[in-house]
Amino acid sequence: MREFKILGVVIFFTLLVYWGVEPFAHSQMHPHVAPADFTFKDLGTLQKQGDPKTGADTFMNAGCIGCHGVQSQGMPAPMDNASASASFGVTPPDLSSAGAIYAENFLAALIKNPAHALKVEHKFNETRQHPMPAFYGLGDDLDQEIADIVAYLKSIAPKQMNGKEVFVDACQRCHDMKYDKMYTTSDRETLAGYMGINPPDLSMMIRSKGTEYLNIFINNPQKQLAGTSMPRVGLNEVAQEQVISYIEETGDRKKSQREAIGPKIIGFMLIFAVLAYLWKVKIWRELH
Ligand code: HEC
Ligand code: HEC
Repeated sequence: MREFKILGVVIFFTLLVYWGVEPFAHSQMHPHVAPADFTFKDLGTLQKQGDPKTGADTFMNAGCIGCHGVQSQGMPAPMDNASASASFGVTPPDLSSAGAIYAENFLAALIKNPAHALKVEHKFNETRQHPMPAFYGLGDDLDQEIADIVAYLKSIAPKQMNGKEVFVDACQRCHDMKYDKMYTTSDRETLAGYMGINPPDLSMMIRSKGTEYLNIFINNPQKQLAGTSMPRVGLNEVAQEQVISYIEETGDRKKSQREAIGPKIIGFMLIFAVLAYLWKVKIWRELH
């Protein structure tokens, strides 16, 4: 049967491209990087059990609210966005949701040494200090005090959040999302000076970069763009999935529609293939 031979050749070359050529090209264009690590192993782990009640006092005494608001606890931001931008280069985020969206190990490491946890030590050193100072403790065991602050932040955090809320608290101080009419809370010029570059609008990011890239990039920007000035964000796995879904919904609204139509088209083709075959059989039968 000649048709079957042709079909065999077509299938052979299709599979060769699918399993051989495409993966090879992909590995050349996007060299493999380790997947996102939500345990933040490189920062060590929280050794102590924190107590949210003690943490509330420690938090107030640690000076966090000198820069950060905690709206949900009735503590508004201490400065308006313009003055905060002018002082720090970027507006410090509200901490109401910090305990819900950031990984515990990351939060503890951030409080101890911001530039290290954020992976921006290449930009900040003794001569150029990171705008968020390290917390040196109130005189007791530093690790215990930090564990208490983290426990407090977790105790006040909302139980449920959506992707847009995660974007507001974790990304909007630097990034626009123009397709959703969301704009950076920082002053653009000061921000560009602080970062060394203007953070890009995220509306179309899902199309140019894809989910997998975003997942690794947000978790550790240095892995994908060595030397980049974007700090590591430190989101836990749930919050990161939510923010990526939000980026996807905003930039690629038609995705689910597009994917749903695929199986329908395949079904349509199959039905027509069967009809075409039956027709052919009928015509040849009459010819014989
Ligand atoms: C002198 C001001 C200042 C103080 C004090 C301060 N911060 Fe910050 N904090 C900042 C600034 C500015 C940023 C944003 C830095 C950036 O995005 O580069 C920030 C960022 C953060 C973030 C977001 C990190 C991320 O992954 O995006 C958290 C969480 C945070 N601070 C918690 C705290 C806690 C808890 C304390 C108290 C122990 C504290 N901060 C004290 C200025 C401050
Ligand atoms: C403190 C500021 C800051 C925060 C917070 C921040 N970014 Fe960025 N981001 C930047 C800067 C600056 C760049 C440009 C980096 C470069 O080109 O080196 C960038 C670039 C990016 C890119 C483009 C990467 C590429 O390969 O070109 C993506 C995607 C991105 N950010 C996503 C996010 C998401 C999602 C969040 C929140 C979860 C976030 N960023 C939080 C500053 C920030």
